[in-house]
Amino acid sequence: MCPSIDEAALGVHENLMIKKKTVYVCINKRGGRACIGPKSRDVFRALHKRAKERGGEVEVERIVCMGYCSQGPNVKIHGGPFFHEVAPDDIDVILDEVLSGKDARS
Ligand code: FES
Repeated sequence: MCPSIDEAALGVHENLMIKKKTVYVCINKRGGRACIGPKSRDVFRALHKRAKERGGEVEVERIVCMGYCSQGPNVKIHGGPFFHEVAPDDIDVILDEVLSGKDARS
């Protein structure tokens, strides 16, 4: 049975209200010196793993190209700042920033 329009709208509203904070990691394979290769994938894996360890409040998603190709690996907080030349050791700083919510507009 299909939900009524009001029930469907409520579901959408609830999904928006509980939307996790999101961090994007560029894993583009295009040529050049930045986001290609294992460094970006290492950052993605480390960020994804650490976000889970820290309670799973942060969603980590892959993205292809954010326009800073020569400064990779590149990470972007949804509604917040970019981080360039990110290394796996930087991920707690990024997660601290996301969880503090001071720059994230969600
Ligand atoms: S390839 Fe990653 S920002 Fe462009």
